[in-house]
Amino acid sequence: MKIYSLILLAGVVFMTCGLAACTQSASAESMDVAGARDYCHSKVEKTLGVLSRDSVDYTMMPRNIAAGDSVWHCRKATPDEWCAGFWPGVLWYDYELSGDEKIREQAERYTASLGYLSRKPVFDHDLGFLIFCSYGNGYRLTGRDEYKDVILASADSLATLYNPTVGTLLSWPRNVEMLGGHNTIMDNMINLEMLFWAARNGGEHRLYDIAVKHAETTMNNQFRPDGTCYHVAVYDAEKGNLLRCMTHQGYADNSTWARGQAWAIYGYTMVYRETKDKRFLDFARKVTDAYLERLPDDYVPYWDFDDPTIPAAPRDASAACVVASALLELQGYCVPEEGKRYMDMARKMLVSLSGKEYRSADSRCSFLDHSVGHKPAGSEIDASIIYADYYYIEALKRLKDLES
Ligand code: GLY
Repeated sequence: MKIYSLILLAGVVFMTCGLAACTQSASAESMDVAGARDYCHSKVEKTLGVLSRDSVDYTMMPRNIAAGDSVWHCRKATPDEWCAGFWPGVLWYDYELSGDEKIREQAERYTASLGYLSRKPVFDHDLGFLIFCSYGNGYRLTGRDEYKDVILASADSLATLYNPTVGTLLSWPRNVEMLGGHNTIMDNMINLEMLFWAARNGGEHRLYDIAVKHAETTMNNQFRPDGTCYHVAVYDAEKGNLLRCMTHQGYADNSTWARGQAWAIYGYTMVYRETKDKRFLDFARKVTDAYLERLPDDYVPYWDFDDPTIPAAPRDASAACVVASALLELQGYCVPEEGKRYMDMARKMLVSLSGKEYRSADSRCSFLDHSVGHKPAGSEIDASIIYADYYYIEALKRLKDLES
C-alpha cells in the first residue's frame, strides 16, 4: 500500500511540475501590450518632466543613460548625431498609442529641430534614420504637407550618395580613405525605406531603382553562405568590384554582430514589403533563421554572437527590439506555420524585454536597459540607448495592431 501511495505522490508531483512548466511557456507567449504601453507613456512623461526643468532646448535629443545614471544624456541634433531622430519618433509612437495631445505637441517641437537637415548636403546614410523616424512618423500621423516636403528633399539628398558602378549608397563619405574605398554598412539597409517611400509619394522613380539595386548588391556581397552578415563591405568606387568585408562595431571581421544582423532582418523584410519580389522574402527568412538559431534562452542576443567571452559578454537589447519589430511584419508575409513561428518568437522577445531583467528601474527615464552601442570603441556598453526604446515602442504598436 505504501509503495502505491509513493507512486501516486510522485505522479502528482510530476504532473504538477509539468503543468507549471507548461504554464510558464504559455505565459511567455502572452504579452501585456496595454501594460507595456502605459509603462512607456509614464517613462516618456518622466523624460519630458526632466527635460523641462529648465528652459527646454528642443535641439537636444536623448541619446543614452549609462548604467549608474538615471536621466538621459542628450546630444545636439546635428548631421553627425545619427540618433537624433529616435526621440521624436518615440514621441510620435507614444502619441499614437496614448492619444495624449500634450505628447503630440512635444513630438512636433522636437521633430522641427531636424528639418534643416533636408536643406543641407547629406552628411552620411544616417539621414534616413534622422528624418524617417521623426518626419516619417509625423507625416504618417498628421498628413502635413510640410513634413512630406522635408522627407522628399531628404530622399533626394540621400540618393546623392549612390554610386551606380558599385550599385550601393556610400554609407560613410568621411571614411572612404580610412577604409580604402566606397563603403556600405548593413545599417544602411534601413534607410532605403525613405527612398521607397519618396518614390511612392511624388519623388522620382529612380529612388525606387536605387533602393532595389542597393538591396541586391548588399544581398550578393555582404553575407556568408549561412545567412549571417558582415557589418561593412568596401568596394572599388571606379570599377565597382568588392574589395573586402569587415567589421566596425562587431567583435571581428568574421563574427556576427547582433545589431548588424538585426538591421538585415528588418531591412530585407521592408524591401520585400516595398517590392513584393520573392527573392527578398526568401532572403529575409534566411537571415532571420540565422539569427534565431544563435539566440540564448531569453531571446535577447549577446552583442556579438561570436564574442568568446559568452556567457559573460553583454547582451544587446536594442538588437532584440529591432528584430521583434521586424518579425511582427515578416510573419504576415509567410505561410501560416512559419508566420506563427515568427509571431511566437516576437512575442517571446517582447515578454523578455518587458521583464525585470531588461526593463529600466522606476528611477531611470528609459524604457529598457542592457544595450550596447559601440563595444570596440568602449562606448555605450550595457546602457539604455534611445534606439532600443524606439524599436520597442514600434514593436508594441505593431503587436497592438495585430491583436486588435
Ligand atoms: N547605425 C549604427 C548602429 O547600429 O550602431
